[in-house]
Amino acid sequence: MNSRKKEVERLATSELARSNIARPFIRFDMLRPSGKTVLEFENVNKSYAQPDGKTEHVINNFSAAVQRGDKVVLIGRNGQGKTTLLKALLANGPGVEEKDVSIDSGVVKWGHEAQIGYFAQDHKGSIQLGMTASDWLHQFDPQATKEDIRGILGQMLFRGEEGLKKTDALSGGEAARLLFCKIMLQKPNVLVLDEPTNHLDLESINALNQAIQKYEGTVFLVTHDQDLIEEAGTRIWHFEGGPEDFHITDHKGPYEEYQQQLALAAK
Ligand SMILES: Nc1ncnc2c1ncn2[C@@H]1O[C@H](COP(=O)(O)OP(=O)(O)O)[C@@H](O)[C@H]1O
Ligand SMILES: [Mg+2]
Repeated sequence: MNSRKKEVERLATSELARSNIARPFIRFDMLRPSGKTVLEFENVNKSYAQPDGKTEHVINNFSAAVQRGDKVVLIGRNGQGKTTLLKALLANGPGVEEKDVSIDSGVVKWGHEAQIGYFAQDHKGSIQLGMTASDWLHQFDPQATKEDIRGILGQMLFRGEEGLKKTDALSGGEAARLLFCKIMLQKPNVLVLDEPTNHLDLESINALNQAIQKYEGTVFLVTHDQDLIEEAGTRIWHFEGGPEDFHITDHKGPYEEYQQQLALAAK
């Protein structure tokens, strides 16, 4: 079944069909496209020192090149290093403020004019406290008018005075929606989204799925949401195996094709 059909079916069966439930409107535009090669990295290694003095190797000599328009979905069990890899790649990413990881060795090269919009898994720390949601958002585009800001907040269902809520008081879901507002305002040409659906309801996940499919830039997405994996991804990085045989499989095609290949190989 193609994604469009699935989408229509899902809508028909959802609450939305029966009621006028508010739906967020997510759309990612780009200010300008990046160069053709968005990211190249070679032999990236990252380990953490454990409290007992041992070293835990998380990323071992992983290399890849990512082209403009690739929508890479990172899949695999929790604790396998998806977040660590993204942070490692972002450690010298243009325009990324959250830089809490460095790499042990390897080379990471971001391409010409790459601009990154980052949604961290632990995203609460990305939002500065002690100001209103609206003021926090506005600093990322001082040229925007108050109406522009209000409009984007409205798209993500901050109604009326809700944009005046203090950032300290935001729920997990509100913080997630506000971060999407920031990304929509910044109009980056690369999206790095680390488990963005954890605090979203079904309608929002659906809106995000559509927005990623329509986006013309490059995407790195960590998710366990099966529809997103199947419908939004054009390339799969599968984190798999145990301590002895851990590796990342880079399948340069969508999930369904990856599954078919695995089935064939098992025959
Ligand atoms: N800051 C850190 N210090 C020490 N160990 C860490 C740190 N962050 C992650 N780890 C460890 O690295 C491994 C991979 O974690 P993570 O990248 O968060 O996995 P995933 O995102 O796939 O769930 C886990 O064993 C985790 O405990
Ligand atoms: Mg993670």
